[in-house]
Amino acid sequence: MNLKEVDVLFTAEEIREKVKELGNKISADYEGESLLVVGILKGAFVFMADLIREIDIPMEIDFMSVSSYGTSSETSGEVRIMKDLDFSIEGKNVLVIEDIVDTGLTLNYISKILKQRGCSSVKICCLLDKPSRRRSPVIPDYIGYTIPDNFVVGYGLDYSGRYRNYPAVCILKPSVYNND
Ligand code: IMP
Repeated sequence: MNLKEVDVLFTAEEIREKVKELGNKISADYEGESLLVVGILKGAFVFMADLIREIDIPMEIDFMSVSSYGTSSETSGEVRIMKDLDFSIEGKNVLVIEDIVDTGLTLNYISKILKQRGCSSVKICCLLDKPSRRRSPVIPDYIGYTIPDNFVVGYGLDYSGRYRNYPAVCILKPSVYNND
């Protein structure tokens, strides 16, 4: 990790403990029920890979990839599906895995679409939540950490395609994006 560009917010060790806690909660809540875990690409792939190994009940997994219309700094709330689910979700309990909920516009749209497809339930699990930025009434069911309005990278999260491989969640220093 280049510490001239980032400040560590949560270490890999802290994240591991948090992911274990989330996995235990999810395992208890869905005990005896079916579970389909849906990861939102690309950001959620690291978190999801760790989380599913801490969930101790049978499950299926699938992925969706979406992109927002609008400029890079302002999403319009309308979301284009770039890669849809491979399987029907009718009658299933869907748990959507997201890296971070920011304005909530993306997940609001995704939840609506999934509900229209006749699943039994839709819940949301995110590693990070930035409630101060919310523009849509999304309340995640499982939250790793609630964070202030900082731009974070690492553990799957990127800035301009970089930093996804950092093992910690880090705050990107303003000098990095001001120089771009
Ligand atoms: P929302 O629709 O504004 O909630 O957008 C959520 C998406 O924006 C996330 O899945 C991320 O891809 C991206 N995002 C929001 N905040 C950050 C951040 O601090 N770092 C990296 N990506 C972010």
